[in-house]
Amino acid sequence: MRLKDQNALVTGGSRGIGRAIAQAFAVEGARVAVVYRGSQEAAEKLVAEINNKGGRAVAFQADVADAAAVEACVQRVEQELGPIHILVNNAGVIEDDLFVRMKPEAWNRIIQTNLGGVFNFCHAVAFGMMQRRAGRIINISSVSAEHVNMGQTNYSASKGAINSFTRALAVELAKRGVTVNAIAPGFIETDMSAAVRNKAGDRIVKFIPMRRIGTPEDIARVAVFLASADSAYITGQVLTVDGGLTLGAVAE
Ligand SMILES: NC(=O)c1ccc[n+]([C@@H]2O[C@H](COP(=O)([O-])OP(=O)(O)OC[C@H]3O[C@@H](n4cnc5c(N)ncnc54)[C@H](OP(=O)(O)O)[C@@H]3O)[C@@H](O)[C@H]2O)c1
Repeated sequence: MRLKDQNALVTGGSRGIGRAIAQAFAVEGARVAVVYRGSQEAAEKLVAEINNKGGRAVAFQADVADAAAVEACVQRVEQELGPIHILVNNAGVIEDDLFVRMKPEAWNRIIQTNLGGVFNFCHAVAFGMMQRRAGRIINISSVSAEHVNMGQTNYSASKGAINSFTRALAVELAKRGVTVNAIAPGFIETDMSAAVRNKAGDRIVKFIPMRRIGTPEDIARVAVFLASADSAYITGQVLTVDGGLTLGAVAE
């Protein structure tokens, strides 16, 4: 078990990629705090599944965009499980629109959730990790940070900023034994990508050299690696996990 006796907090752990990460962490022996915003039933179902299999998980409600709620959430998690050793900032949303039509509210919601959420949780846990001289922070970015799509100025900006933030924070925390890395997934089979997959699924697959859409488990395995001792000398990196999507091969 690669994460035995570790306490992990996964934001957006109720569904999709976060759910798979929470499950994979539990299998590796971590105690897992599953943070959700609205999907209470899904979060509680996941927690029950993990606990029934002999693992340890607890669900916590918090909106990652709300700094005070995040502080309170981290306090509750630490009271329940103990210090947080591993933080996965996975919660994210899309609200696509062409730029000229994009409402400032859609810009603010995406930036405050995707980027603000990363800031809020890092801010709430970083000092404790520094004091303990150990910790792992994993931010879920996207290939959309570098490989942009129409209608995603807000989303791409949030993910590009997460990559820069990851590198900058990694430099500050490195000598305190805390690593900060990001994962940039390609197309992954979750609710978030459902609309695009339903509309253009076959066409997308032609652009992926591995000829398949990724699974949440493809990302979860990389998160386990970045959370474990195996990645001890890696920090400030953005790992692309996309089946070759961004290599730029021409679709057949
Ligand atoms: N799917 C892809 O193809 C893909 C590709 C690249 C990157 N990503 C990134 O991977 C991450 C996970 O995406 P996914 O595909 O798993 O999405 P998803 O299936 O839509 O799940 C999103 C998760 O984020 C949570 N969440 C959203 N807003 C939140 C908030 N304000 N506070 C707390 N939790 C919040 C949701 O919780 P509730 O349901 O409780 O609201 C849910 O658990 C995101 O950062 C996304 O940008 C996904």
